[in-house]
Amino acid sequence: MTKVLIATEKPFAPAAVNGIREVVEGAGYELALLESYTDKADLLAAVADVDAMIIRSDKATREVIEAAKNLKVIVRAGAGYDNIDLEACTEKGIVAMNTPGQNSNAVAELVLGMMVFLARNGYNGKAGVELRGKKIGIHAYGNVGRYVGEIAKGFGMEVYAFDPFVAKEAIEADGVKVVESVEELYSTCNYISLHIPANDKTKKSINYDLLNKMPEGGILVNTARKEVIDEEGLIKLMEDRKDFAYISDIAPDCKDEIAAKFEGRFFFTPKKMGAQTAEANINAGIAGANQIVNCIEKGDTTYKVN
Ligand code: 3PG
Repeated sequence: MTKVLIATEKPFAPAAVNGIREVVEGAGYELALLESYTDKADLLAAVADVDAMIIRSDKATREVIEAAKNLKVIVRAGAGYDNIDLEACTEKGIVAMNTPGQNSNAVAELVLGMMVFLARNGYNGKAGVELRGKKIGIHAYGNVGRYVGEIAKGFGMEVYAFDPFVAKEAIEADGVKVVESVEELYSTCNYISLHIPANDKTKKSINYDLLNKMPEGGILVNTARKEVIDEEGLIKLMEDRKDFAYISDIAPDCKDEIAAKFEGRFFFTPKKMGAQTAEANINAGIAGANQIVNCIEKGDTTYKVN
């Protein structure tokens, strides 16, 4: 019998697991569940006999892919697939997919949520500032970026974007102003919200020089990946500029070094939780299950990323 594994170090909401089960068992397959694991050995054991698997930020390294002798399809329930060794998948003829757009609104809501949290001084009772009239720059206008723009407009913010991979007209059609360069985005906006993937081109690309272009009181919001930040540059900038703040859904490696030092202008969620809503889990999880069934039954490889 075809066996599908859900391997989630950070589990889906129960309703999402139920939805996945319905799709998987409805296709006549068996569902196995490995949740909240802390030991890589548990993952290696769980993948040994599965035909397909659904993961989140779980690390599907070469070791994991090679331990999964029967694996045919791996779906990252979410957008970023930098956690999958695509080369190893391709070598073994395994289809790797993501589920673009399915958890985007959840991430976008957290962006604005963290911005309000910081603007109101962590709700400590002191007078804060408002978002209305401020400029937000969306660095990469994909599914999350588009939702951020939509919500930011609801707050009365001026919305700018930079994305060389999206047609200017399409962005402008959303009522968002397009700037000509990444430098112009940073020098124009009070807030920058990052939505770039982590890859060889983007890693450490958010550096001192770029961030230093932001106007007085600049705030960087990162719900993308910690790897895109040049942490040394970030620390130096926050030392040099007492007006600059950083809020993130992915704790930087340097968090212990900077948590106390930059108190009040540095915040990170204790666990990455941008996509951690019931709706996002249900959307991405069930989309992943359907993609697996369609791939196995019909050879449909929509959203293949390798
Ligand atoms: C994504 O790439 O979809 C997000 O970063 C969500 O990741 P998560 O499923 O691990 O929360």
